[in-house]
Amino acid sequence: MTALASPTLTMNDGREIPQLGFGVFTMSNEEAEASVKEALAVGYRHIDTAAVYGNEEGVRRGIEASGVDPSEIFLVTKLWNTDQGYDSTLRAFEESMQRLGRESIDLYLIHWSMPKRRLYPETWRAFLELKEQGRISSVGVANFPVEQLEDLVDGSGVAPVLNQIELHPHFNQPELRRVNAEMGVLTESWGPLSQGGDALTDPVITEIAKAHGATPAQTILAWHRQLGLVVIPKSVTPERIRENFESLQLTLTDDEVERITALDRGPEGRVSRDPADFNE
Ligand SMILES: NC(=O)c1ccc[n+]([C@@H]2O[C@H](COP(=O)([O-])OP(=O)(O)OC[C@H]3O[C@@H](n4cnc5c(N)ncnc54)[C@H](OP(=O)(O)O)[C@@H]3O)[C@@H](O)[C@H]2O)c1
Repeated sequence: MTALASPTLTMNDGREIPQLGFGVFTMSNEEAEASVKEALAVGYRHIDTAAVYGNEEGVRRGIEASGVDPSEIFLVTKLWNTDQGYDSTLRAFEESMQRLGRESIDLYLIHWSMPKRRLYPETWRAFLELKEQGRISSVGVANFPVEQLEDLVDGSGVAPVLNQIELHPHFNQPELRRVNAEMGVLTESWGPLSQGGDALTDPVITEIAKAHGATPAQTILAWHRQLGLVVIPKSVTPERIRENFESLQLTLTDDEVERITALDRGPEGRVSRDPADFNE
């Protein structure tokens, strides 16, 4: 039997990213170590952490314990808000690399845009310099609304490879998805299962899941994949880590994809902070 593997998407810098990755938000170092090891055993090859999660060391230990060659793993971390700015970015990057036990990273993200403070142009300058030095393979952002994304690209002439944003059936961001695509920026969904919230019990999703003999989580993850989104579900539960990966075996009909997209509730559907108003 051929092992299940995530498809990849091509980023605007020509590199490939595994479309289905593994998120580690809210995990302790111990949980991250065990869960990353489990995820790599199941077949994930893309791990999404962040300095602010406080578990980069656990991620490193999980990778070491897995026996998987680190060069096969697409590793992502993020620069925290208090480290935005040129010098502080260079410093925070080195600290992340130390915790991850690496010299370089596949993808580094500005974690939030913080529109009012507008430190992202200087932060981005440091990102581009680190890329030039070969320390970062690809540069990206998270939580960038349209205005800040356009400002960043206009000012630097370099589009991020992706914009990682809150995105799930009840809040599926049609406008930002459209603008990202127009700018050649992939959209990546965080909180893809609405952080374990009510998307998993939505009657439309449970009905479609049942029709395929799949679970609601698998149905939602297949929907993200079929919309062309990069998606990074998190779980500390071994059965769910596998269940989520096996969503790769599920293909929804076009009509089912449209029915799930139609569940969008606009801003009402947001489960976390609005990046336009988050400046700390
Ligand atoms: N850029 C940003 O600002 C930002 C913000 C948030 C998240 N992220 C990234 O995106 C990743 C994913 O988002 P998230 O962790 O917030 O939320 P999520 O992946 O939407 O949901 C995680 C929650 O769903 C539960 N779950 C996972 N698989 C399940 C399944 N098959 N059935 C039922 N419940 C299931 C998990 O429980 P258990 O763990 O208990 O199994 C956990 O409570 C994060 O880990 C992080 O890497 C980025």
